[in-house]
Amino acid sequence: MKKPSFYITTPIYYPSDNLHIGHAYCTSIADAIARYHRAAGEDVFFLTGSDEHGQKIQRKAEQKGVTPIAYVDAIVANFKLLWEKLGISNDDFLRTSEERHAKVVQTIMQKIYDQGDIYKKNYEGLYCVPCESYWLERQLVDGKCPDCKRPVERMAEESYFFKLSKYQDRLLKHIEEHPDFIQPVSRRNEMINFIKQGLEDLCITRTTFDWGIKVPFDSKHVVYVWFDALINYLTGIEYGVNDEKFNKFWPANLHLVGKEIVRFHSIIWSIMLMAADLPLPKQVYGHGWLVVEGDKMSKSKGNVVEPLALIDEFGADAIRYFLLREINLGSDGNFSRDALINRINADLANDLGNLLHRTISMVEKYHDGILHKVSGEHEVDAALITLVAQTVENYKKAMSKMEINTAIKDVWALISRANKYIDETGPWLLAKDPAQTNRLQAVLYNLAETLRIIAILIEPFMPHTAPKIYSQLGLALPEHFAHKDAVWGRVPEGTQTQKGEPLFPRIEIIEEEVVVPELKKQEVAKEAKSVNAKVKTEEIKAEVAIEDFAKLDLRVATIVTAERVPKTDKLMKIMVRIGMEERIIVSGIAQHYTAEELVGRNVIVIANLAPIKLRGIESKGMLLAASDNEGNLVLADAPNIASGSRVK
Ligand code: MSP
Repeated sequence: MKKPSFYITTPIYYPSDNLHIGHAYCTSIADAIARYHRAAGEDVFFLTGSDEHGQKIQRKAEQKGVTPIAYVDAIVANFKLLWEKLGISNDDFLRTSEERHAKVVQTIMQKIYDQGDIYKKNYEGLYCVPCESYWLERQLVDGKCPDCKRPVERMAEESYFFKLSKYQDRLLKHIEEHPDFIQPVSRRNEMINFIKQGLEDLCITRTTFDWGIKVPFDSKHVVYVWFDALINYLTGIEYGVNDEKFNKFWPANLHLVGKEIVRFHSIIWSIMLMAADLPLPKQVYGHGWLVVEGDKMSKSKGNVVEPLALIDEFGADAIRYFLLREINLGSDGNFSRDALINRINADLANDLGNLLHRTISMVEKYHDGILHKVSGEHEVDAALITLVAQTVENYKKAMSKMEINTAIKDVWALISRANKYIDETGPWLLAKDPAQTNRLQAVLYNLAETLRIIAILIEPFMPHTAPKIYSQLGLALPEHFAHKDAVWGRVPEGTQTQKGEPLFPRIEIIEEEVVVPELKKQEVAKEAKSVNAKVKTEEIKAEVAIEDFAKLDLRVATIVTAERVPKTDKLMKIMVRIGMEERIIVSGIAQHYTAEELVGRNVIVIANLAPIKLRGIESKGMLLAASDNEGNLVLADAPNIASGSRVK
């Protein structure tokens, strides 16, 4: 049977600057949707790229003293690096400076010209260079661009115009007859109002600069950057070159764009297609904007969030999860570091990470890492299995309506339920009773099976995590994660689990030190001394059994290297050797020791503490130190004894 096709696009980004987290947000949404449709068994084509021509780029290059192509080459290389690190699964990356694109733009333009929808006239207009957009006097807000609020420039030149006005009624009819064409509804209404106010013909050529595609019928002119850019959606699927591919994927199923460029996609692009006698895309969806701590990102405000640095610190899947979970697709959403860390700790480390960790640990501990395919007969089992099936259905419904965060919430409700299932069934109690071996096998199988299906469902959002879950469960990686496999009972009998690193180590939030003025410091010190005198010994914690103490693996370690963690006051990144093994421990001792004082020292560490991430660095273990009320701190030393020795 022929697979249904699905063609999805992102806007092509301007390589005037490196991309920020807002751009990464848009492409992550498109990637999640593309992956979802692949999992549904569709033949997907996912296109992204760069919009390289126009006055803005030419000016930027001039300021830098380089050619426009040299300027964009460097930035586009960064776009590609970002998409690779973020796990973006685009099938092609289209640069509008490529020859294959110029040919398609010229073909389409000639076609529209030949049928009489392009004419020449003298023009004087108001132009916003950053937005590469013309405005009418009445559309300005306080004399400035209504989109970006920057000043507009008066442009006067002889130009070619495209007859938008001719198609106004036909477009309105199309929008009315196709309620899904522009989404969400708020954007649809906005566009209907805009069209009803009357469309002006559009100036589509320029002569005041030359960084663009030459107009085929008048080589003094270059094509207006938006007319050029929109055609990328045709070039990407080989219009005029590979008819089979083009006919398979056109019309596009979804142009995903930011809310401020819905106008270009639903009005100008639609009319270009009508004039070129091509069908219109099935949907233009305008997503909301990402703001940072409530504020629009801008270089001048210094609040631009760099996605590459964020990925290095927290990992791509954590960023993708946050963006897709936190924000309602059609509305604006807020990015904040604290909210990101909270989500990582609560949803990823605690809920998902723990579910996998607890399950695999128990399979190892009780059944030597082997999963047995035993079905559970209890009510809790039936409830879990039913919820898995319901979650798959609800998830599909939400995804097909582009309600990505609802789909994620559904999966996380299942994760919580599975964690609760562990508490309800109490595998540690079952393990004590040999008569319950079968029951224990069934419980562990149910957990593994739930995790397997969870992996399939989260793959569109977290493409690096889903395979990790599979490999810890001991399952062979499928060619594609597919919905057809999201049915109960596929983990084979005798599967050998493979315990791995925690999926998401908890992130500790280290408070930056508050600067205390000198006088205040003396007062604080005085106060501390008197407290010290009054409370001789801090209260001793509750008693623990010797077995509890024995759980800690304390070792002598030799410090091999030490360096301060950049942009922190307290943290040191320390490499220690414990016997033969080397590892990194991040420790808050930078105010008490210099690197030179540390290297070569034998100290005592907790060697089996669960790893955590501090400022993006994974820390495995903890250095022991004594500290008093006056802020003194001394490391617990163990000189004259071999590294690796046990401390008991
Ligand atoms: N080059 C045009 C698009 C041409 S498509 C044929 C363009 N480029 S852009 O780089 O300025 O913006 C690309 C996309 O990024 C737009 O959809 C825009 O909405 C989106 N975003 C830019 N900043 C954003 C946020 N802060 N948040 C979310 N998306 C944002 O326009």
